[in-house]
Amino acid sequence: MGNFVAGTVVGKRRWTERLYSLRVAAEVAPFHAGQFTKLALDINGEIVGRPYSFINAPGEKPLEFYFILVQAGPLSPRLAALEVGGAVWVSPHAAGFLTLAEVPDAKHLWLLSTGTGIGPFLSILKSEEPWQRFDRIVLVHAVRQAEELAYDETIRDFAQQHGEQFRFVPFVSRAEMDFALRARIPEAIADGRLEARAGIALAPESSQVMLCGNPDMVRDTTEALLARGLKKTGGAIPVTLLWKVIGKSVWTKVKNRARADWTAYRIVIGSQGEEMTVSELARRAGVTADTVRHYTHSGLLIPRRDERNGYNFYSNDDLTRLVFIRKARLLGFSLGDVSDILKDSSHGRSPCPRVRNLMAQRLKEARHKLQDLKKLQTRMERATALWTNMPDGMPDGNAVCHLIESIAMED
Ligand SMILES: Cc1cc2nc3c(=O)[nH]c(=O)nc-3n(C[C@H](O)[C@H](O)[C@H](O)COP(=O)(O)OP(=O)(O)OC[C@H]3O[C@@H](n4cnc5c(N)ncnc54)[C@H](O)[C@@H]3O)c2cc1C
Ligand SMILES: NC(=O)c1ccc[n+]([C@@H]2O[C@H](COP(=O)([O-])OP(=O)(O)OC[C@H]3O[C@@H](n4cnc5c(N)ncnc54)[C@H](OP(=O)(O)O)[C@@H]3O)[C@@H](O)[C@H]2O)c1
Repeated sequence: MGNFVAGTVVGKRRWTERLYSLRVAAEVAPFHAGQFTKLALDINGEIVGRPYSFINAPGEKPLEFYFILVQAGPLSPRLAALEVGGAVWVSPHAAGFLTLAEVPDAKHLWLLSTGTGIGPFLSILKSEEPWQRFDRIVLVHAVRQAEELAYDETIRDFAQQHGEQFRFVPFVSRAEMDFALRARIPEAIADGRLEARAGIALAPESSQVMLCGNPDMVRDTTEALLARGLKKTGGAIPVTLLWKVIGKSVWTKVKNRARADWTAYRIVIGSQGEEMTVSELARRAGVTADTVRHYTHSGLLIPRRDERNGYNFYSNDDLTRLVFIRKARLLGFSLGDVSDILKDSSHGRSPCPRVRNLMAQRLKEARHKLQDLKKLQTRMERATALWTNMPDGMPDGNAVCHLIESIAMED
């Protein structure tokens, strides 16, 4: 199980019929608040893994995950059926860019989420960094029904510990609740209700905004922010393109630059459901866009194709794969080798025996090539020496170049 470490469920909470949290004891590598890892189960002999955001802060144990049971999904119903003591595979390596390292300094941080999209924000708020960097932090959680407002104790703790620095704004869209806004986030931005509840202005010169959750919310909220006079800047992905990307979450950054009249608005695809264009993937992996296209045609990268516009969109898994392919190529593995290694890995088999065998073969081939190159070098040196004192000749109909023709056809 090369890609996963063994985890044990040490806690479980059922928030509603469809919303669950699992606490898992597992040894994973350090990660940044806001990142995600993969949970996996053995389902009919196949390892099925999916990404899940950490709810716990970096360094906090046990690990915690908050998820929705997708009825027809292969993994989430089985995760929901796990009980304390149950076994689950956990990827030891986290990924994702929905982290504060990506956020420039500002006075106010807005964290806008729907449903399970609140997860990475809880991890961020459990860490020290946001409280040190931002004067005010607004956490928005939008759900359909009040019972889906999970982690209320955790949120109360934030409020108790941080007082006026923190404001929680719940939205319950399908029931009348005196404590919550009955609205959708974009609409409450447009009509000012969100700012009224938060007690601060959502102003470009003072705010950074992170979005996570329903892709339609992300799209509509982005539009609402733009409509508020925020302007886009050259982010990694053009805004127009991004709007067509259906990812689970998106980073939205609103940044005030040196000139007060020039407000930059930057959007970068974030952690959950992150998708990248060819050029963005190439930039992140340090390769050319042609390399990405070549590996795509070879079937090593499998992007999502948007049928409406024909664009390919790549995931974080593709980025990990691409970096892996580059390393393998540096070691002399062929694309065919890489494909076999990746297949082993995705079928839950250790690729190491194959990698060792292939490396032995490739090393033998490299030695042969080196010997051939050495022979070539000797021939070239001999010819250069021989030609030193030979005069230049002219083509005479029988000879093309007497320098080359002077060489004997030996070994
Ligand atoms: C980077 C990343 C981070 C993620 N983090 C979380 C998380 O913290 N919590 C979580 O519940 N899910 C999260 N997901 C989704 C998760 O990985 C699984 O897709 C989900 O649990 C369903 O798994 P499944 O195998 O049962 O069904 P899948 O075959 O994976 O999904 C079936 C369908 O269910 C829908 N779906 C998937 N996840 C959700 C969701 N959360 N809400 C609404 N509809 C959904 C999608 O339309 C999907 O096509 C994340 C996904 C990504 C890409
Ligand atoms: N929660 C349930 O009771 C329930 C029941 C059965 C199936 N499901 C399915 O489970 C999945 C996840 O459900 P969920 O309730 O966690 O998440 P969800 O459907 O994304 O709803 C969470 C919140 O996001 C809001 N929202 C949806 N689209 C938006 C948009 N374009 N802009 C702004 N806000 C938007 C919803 O408002 P609105 O209420 O106005 O849509 C709701 O307040 C969905 O696929 C859903 O169909 C959920």
